[in-house]
Amino acid sequence: MNIKRIGVLTSGGDAPGMNAAIRAVVRTCIYYDVTPVGIIHGYKGLINNEIFDMDARSVSGIINRGGTILKSARCEEFYTKEGRALAYKTIKKHKINGLVTIGGDGTYHGAHLLGQEFGVKCVGVPGTIDNDIAGCDYTIGFDTAINTAMEAVDRIRDTAAAHDRLFVVEVMGRHAGFIALSVALSGGAEAVLIPETKTDIDKIAKLLSEGRRRGKSSSIVIVAEGDEVGGAFEVAKLLEHKTKYETKVTILGHLQRGGSPTARDRNIASRLSYTAVKLLLQGKHGVHVVIGGRDVKYYPFPHAWEKRKKIDLSYEELIYILSV
Ligand code: F6P
Repeated sequence: MNIKRIGVLTSGGDAPGMNAAIRAVVRTCIYYDVTPVGIIHGYKGLINNEIFDMDARSVSGIINRGGTILKSARCEEFYTKEGRALAYKTIKKHKINGLVTIGGDGTYHGAHLLGQEFGVKCVGVPGTIDNDIAGCDYTIGFDTAINTAMEAVDRIRDTAAAHDRLFVVEVMGRHAGFIALSVALSGGAEAVLIPETKTDIDKIAKLLSEGRRRGKSSSIVIVAEGDEVGGAFEVAKLLEHKTKYETKVTILGHLQRGGSPTARDRNIASRLSYTAVKLLLQGKHGVHVVIGGRDVKYYPFPHAWEKRKKIDLSYEELIYILSV
């Protein structure tokens, strides 16, 4: 069947660069004489029939904007087969014969099920700040998020130094430590706590106390929100007790999700989304596109969740060595 109408949605947590991705889907569709169809609020919008036809001008002036013009949502109803049947009804009603789903692994699971249960032709584009999609070196939004968090850490460093304090800074990442590792290394932190490795709080306390004896007046510890110790407040309580350092907490939270995307995020969003549309036009679906090295590649959806993406633990050692 010829692809005449391609739907595009953003789902799950928004990520800077999603607008650049939507723009690339829409403009690639126009180039190949396909009608792009915007779906508002992700899968929720598919269930509730929030659909509109787009044109080249629908995406004017958005490449530099954070958030997503299509809005996003987390949709409980879509986890049920009844919910997905409603979504399929909307897809049929609007004669959508290909779908580009921009989001993280939850979004991919949804797209995979739409394909398995109803034959919907989907291609996934990785839009998440967490950078936790297996096979994908960089997800859209990660670069902006780590730069935003790094700038925040730079500011925290000023006040930490002025008051001789220890700061525990919590970053996002859900169950993964990619944001934490990158921010810790680029922000010059003394230590980092991530979910992928067991945290030894005594070791970190010792390291901070030794640093103090060597003349360090302030320190920064980065905690991934998914670390098993239990978040920045718990970590700060333990470290303050063990080191006697005056300790403060900053939770960066959703500010990591906002802001204008970096060049890297805009570029990968454009390349990946262009490829997603091309794949649909070539009759390929049930796959997600990735950046692997310098290339854009694609894998079947289950590849994204069957293997956990490997984290580079050499960062931990480097952070420790360089913070001496
Ligand atoms: O997946 C992106 C992310 O920002 C995670 O890092 C975080 O755990 C989660 O979304 C927060 O989700 P919400 O905005 O729904 O609270």
